[in-house]
Amino acid sequence: MSLKEFIKNSPKTELHLHIEGTLEPELMFSLAKRNKIEIPFKNVDDVKKAYNFSNLDSFLKIYYEGAKVLIKEQDFFDLTWAYILKCKEDNIVHTEIFFDPQTHTDRGIDFDTVINGIFNAFKKAEKEFGLSFKIIMCFLRHLNEDECFKILDKALAHKDKIFGVGLDSSETGNPPKKFEKLFKKALENEFITVAHAGEEGPPEYIWEALNCLNVHRIDHGVQCLKDEKLVEILSKSQIPLTVCPLSNVKLKVFNNLGEHNLKKMLDKKLMVMVNSDDPAYFGGYLNKNLIEIQAALNLSQEEIKTLIVNSFKSSFLNEEKKKEWISKI
Ligand code: ADE
Ligand code: ZN
Repeated sequence: MSLKEFIKNSPKTELHLHIEGTLEPELMFSLAKRNKIEIPFKNVDDVKKAYNFSNLDSFLKIYYEGAKVLIKEQDFFDLTWAYILKCKEDNIVHTEIFFDPQTHTDRGIDFDTVINGIFNAFKKAEKEFGLSFKIIMCFLRHLNEDECFKILDKALAHKDKIFGVGLDSSETGNPPKKFEKLFKKALENEFITVAHAGEEGPPEYIWEALNCLNVHRIDHGVQCLKDEKLVEILSKSQIPLTVCPLSNVKLKVFNNLGEHNLKKMLDKKLMVMVNSDDPAYFGGYLNKNLIEIQAALNLSQEEIKTLIVNSFKSSFLNEEKKKEWISKI
């Protein structure tokens, strides 16, 4: 079996995916038409041309613009269902996705509209395809903590649907420490916590996510290699780092996949795996991320297997389910 086939055939899990980042241009246009929303693009090609980013912030501007076509519960359902079909195609058997409620509530969309649309799509997929899932609500870190507290209060009414909380959006200048009280309250309410840290931001942000927010996983974390002591702690504790190769190149964290530090992270025995982040914007879903990073870094079958196994190990599945899936790789 070729490595490409091995990647495609293995059951997989995905741990770092923004559901709003799966909004393909075609669906963006059809939702814009359905909801009579003006978008600043003439056609699909025009949209794709705009996906030329210089850093995280230049991407976020377009990503928040695109999300404006999502209005009704059915829109959130359709968005999620389209991603679920990609999971089927890529043999993803378990997924832990992010959603950004503030991107929508700030435009006057009800919190319930957003979460119900997403949750109902996953419940249908669970029933029809056996896909398992967890939903993680991200706070937008460029906003202030008070606004985030209001969203946390809304989430409490949906505790049965939301498994954990995370932190995303513009990293530089918005350190994890800014949200220490918010995450304390989330933890008191038994949400698990994760946070984006060390995507563009410095290793200090990873330290803060660990020490101030008590996170189970660091999203991205690729900047950790700049700090030896941090690498030692991450390797010892096996705190997962949800790495997203195509995203990192699109957002100019690395010049190209050949310069990505994933192999170095594997060599340091860090708990890393591969994810797609915002695949509609970054040019590929999970299999494409795995296939392209394998080729660029010449990863062995053993290393690819480690990445896939790590993803199951790092998931919030129970130990029995983890074992069951890992035995099938
Ligand atoms: N929101 C969506 N994708 C993101 C990323 N890669 N980093 C931070 N915030 C995001
Ligand atoms: Zn992300």
